[in-house]
Formats: sequence, C-alpha cells, structure tokens
Amino acid sequence: MQTITCSAPGKIYLFGEHAVVYGESAICCAVDLRTQVRADISDTIHISSVLGDTGLDYDKYPYVSAVIENMSEIADIKGINLRIDSNIPVGSGLGSSAAVTIATIQALNLLFGCGLGLEDIATLGHNIERTIQGAASPTDTYVSTMGGVVMVPLKKKLNTIDCGIVIGNTGKFSSTRQLVSNVALLKKYYPQIIDPILSTIGRISITGEELVIKKEYEAIGRLMNINQGLLDAIGVSGPELSNLIYAARSTGAYSAKITGAGGGGCMVALTHPSESKQIASAITQAGGEAIITRVTENGVKVEQ
Ligand code: PMV
Repeated sequence: MQTITCSAPGKIYLFGEHAVVYGESAICCAVDLRTQVRADISDTIHISSVLGDTGLDYDKYPYVSAVIENMSEIADIKGINLRIDSNIPVGSGLGSSAAVTIATIQALNLLFGCGLGLEDIATLGHNIERTIQGAASPTDTYVSTMGGVVMVPLKKKLNTIDCGIVIGNTGKFSSTRQLVSNVALLKKYYPQIIDPILSTIGRISITGEELVIKKEYEAIGRLMNINQGLLDAIGVSGPELSNLIYAARSTGAYSAKITGAGGGGCMVALTHPSESKQIASAITQAGGEAIITRVTENGVKVEQ
C-alpha cells in the first residue's frame, strides 16, 4: 500500500468541561465534523493544507510534525506526503487538534504497518497533545479515536443520541490554557465556593448519564442549562457566548451552553431535529457562525 486517507471527528461536551480537569465526570460526543488526512509514501516529508505547504514544521503543523517524529521511532519513515482537509473550525473548542493528530496517527499506522490498536492510538494522541499544549486531558483524543458518546474519566461508551445539534461559533479566540488557569486561581482563592461548584458539575454528568441512556432530551437540556449557569459562575462564559446561547434558547432549543474551554470559541444547542434550521438562523442573526451537526459513532476510520 502506498496511499491511504484516514479521518477523525471533532467533539462537543454535553456536560463537565473544566470540572473534568479536577477528576469530575464529563460526557462528550463525537460530532459529524471531520478532519481528513491523505498520506502517500514519498522520499521527503511534505505537509499541506489551506494553511500552506511545508516540510516538518512545528510552527505551522505542530501536531502533525510531532506525530511524524514520534512514529519514526517505531516505523521506518523515510518520507511522507500529507494532505490535510477539515471542516472542524480551528481553535474553537471542537477538538480540531485531536482530530488531525488521531487521523494522522492512523494513516501512518496503517501505511507503515505499525500494528497500533485504537487504545494505543488514543494514548499516543494524548501524549502528543500534552507535549504540544503543556497540559491536555485525554478526552478529545479518546473521543476522536472511538467516536460516539463517552463518559470520562471512566472512558465509558454510552448509547448514541439522535437529537439535533447546532453549534454556534463566536469567532472569538479562546485559549484553553488561559481559561483553565483562571479557574485554578479562583479555586485557590475561594476553595469553599468553587470546589462545590465543580463537584456539582460532576454530579450533573452523573445524573445526565441515565438521561442519555433513556434519550430524554428535554431533561438532558435542563441539566445542560444548569451546567451553563455554573460555568458562568466560574467565569468562563462571556457576552459573545451568552448572546448566542440566549438566541438559541429563545428560539426553542432544549438547551444551550458553552462547549469546551469557553471565553470565546463555541456554544452548543440541543434541538428537536426538525428545529435545527430555525435555531441555526437565530444563531446567525445573533452574529455567530452556525453549524448543524449530529453525533457520529464513527471514530477514526479509513476513507474509501
Ligand atoms: O476547548 P477545549 O476543546 O480544549 O476543551 C477544554 C476542556 C477543559 O475541560 C476546559 C480542559 C481539559 O483539558 O479538559
């Protein structure tokens, strides 16, 4: 085999971001937005995407460069030509870096016969994200590898959910590292206030598990809205996010909350599938970029 194309999905959080950093439970879903990586064996290293063409380049392609270097330790990679295409907005809390990392690992794994299984791929992906970002939870890389709805940190797969999902991108840059450190500071100053908030968020995820299993979307929505109130309380919301969240809720969404680190980036709304378009246009009118999607059970996979 000389050429292969692999893809991996992005993700949203139903519940639990930030609290998961302190070991609390969270529930994440892989969504049908994907990054594709086409890999051809070559004599040199060449990486290309809309970001530009280059060789091994940690400034432009830190995750892909790290995957190539890491996998060169277990495979004889003399050269590789990689083409990346994606419909996951970059740097907005939807797991774009995990998706490109996981899709590239699987492409090289299959092309060079490394024999990595899915658990190995998720673990290598997490190690690479941690090296590049300084800190990263295993959530994004695990969900991108396995697909579906996953409870973390237990890595327990739940059944799929089939309601409408509408993402609203504020277009405002969001630094996960900065927001996680803001929460850490608040927690340090006011542990008696912040610790119970974080453990309540964890309890929301635990209560939510049963509702996901029963597909009770209105009840899941109520808990997501409570989760949003608590995220606001720990300072990770903001006017741009609130604007999109209330636009979605007032148009009839079951729920709307931040997904990911917050500050900017994206919010997510759950809807009846027949109402997704209405919610999307409310988000657009409120100044966001709306994306209608759904949960995908397909984690990393080979594209035909
Ligand atoms: O914005 P994202 O997709 O990087 O998600 C961050 C989620 C946090 O819980 C805030 C941090 C983490 O590593 O889990």
